[in-house]
Amino acid sequence: MADIYKLNTEKKKPVPSPKTWTSRHPNEDIYDVSQFDTMHEDEWNEDSIGRLTEDSWDKRYDYESIIIDTIIQDNPNIKSVLELGPGPGILAQKVLAKHPNLTYHLIDKKYAKKYFDDNNLKGEMFVKDLSTDFDTEGLLDTYDLVITNDFLEHVLNPSIIAQKIFKLTHDQSRWLVSNPNWRMGHQYVYRGLFDFDNIIYFLKIHGFIMDGGKVWQSPLKTPPAPRLDSESMLPDSLLDSWNHYILLERKQTYNNDNFNNRTNS
Ligand SMILES: C[S@@+](CC[C@H](N)C(=O)[O-])C[C@H]1O[C@@H](n2cnc3c(N)ncnc32)[C@H](O)[C@@H]1O
Repeated sequence: MADIYKLNTEKKKPVPSPKTWTSRHPNEDIYDVSQFDTMHEDEWNEDSIGRLTEDSWDKRYDYESIIIDTIIQDNPNIKSVLELGPGPGILAQKVLAKHPNLTYHLIDKKYAKKYFDDNNLKGEMFVKDLSTDFDTEGLLDTYDLVITNDFLEHVLNPSIIAQKIFKLTHDQSRWLVSNPNWRMGHQYVYRGLFDFDNIIYFLKIHGFIMDGGKVWQSPLKTPPAPRLDSESMLPDSLLDSWNHYILLERKQTYNNDNFNNRTNS
């Protein structure tokens, strides 16, 4: 007989220490939205900035910068980059070291910018709260490449971010989304949205389709767990990849026509 589990409706005291946030079980994510990091300003303050010095982080940024280098080589029209949720901008430094003439804009929270300014990092960093909206003041009209590296799953309104990215891009632009594999344990507001098939669908209805099916794996591996029905498009080799680096091209769709007409009127 199949196990039946009861939804936990009892009021529980919040559990203070962080843990692995994502499971597929409805009882296990016990944090309420107000405790999610996107709602707080303290990210990248003195308590959390130390992670940047971890060797594995540096290697990850190295690897990601190679992916971005490949994208720029394949799309030599790329002259401007917008990175949302970059943290203090370490990946940007690696990209700019190879491509110093890029106009590189970054948007994150105030302590990310403090580190960026204190260390005289390259590019231009803006402080904006992206949790529920995306104020585009001060940005370029369009960017040739947008990067969201483990970012979309943190905000409360990923749709408004995707809609604004559509407006901040042109038909030749590319968008690199690094999407975390739920198997690694992660904080999500909308857990199923980031299953591979679902995020591809979500991006498509916002006007972005995969660029020739380009998706890169991460060198880091997750614990094993079986494929879900919502991962039918995920290549076998990426099933236990820490995240999936998905390259998108911008494709005008019926929905975006509607969106543009509505917001321009
Ligand atoms: C998981 S981290 C990823 C950082 C970096 N891209 C990386 O891969 O190492 C998510 C990033 O999104 C930023 N972020 C989260 N919520 C935000 C918000 N409401 N406004 C602006 N940035 C936010 C965080 O400060 C953090 O830098």
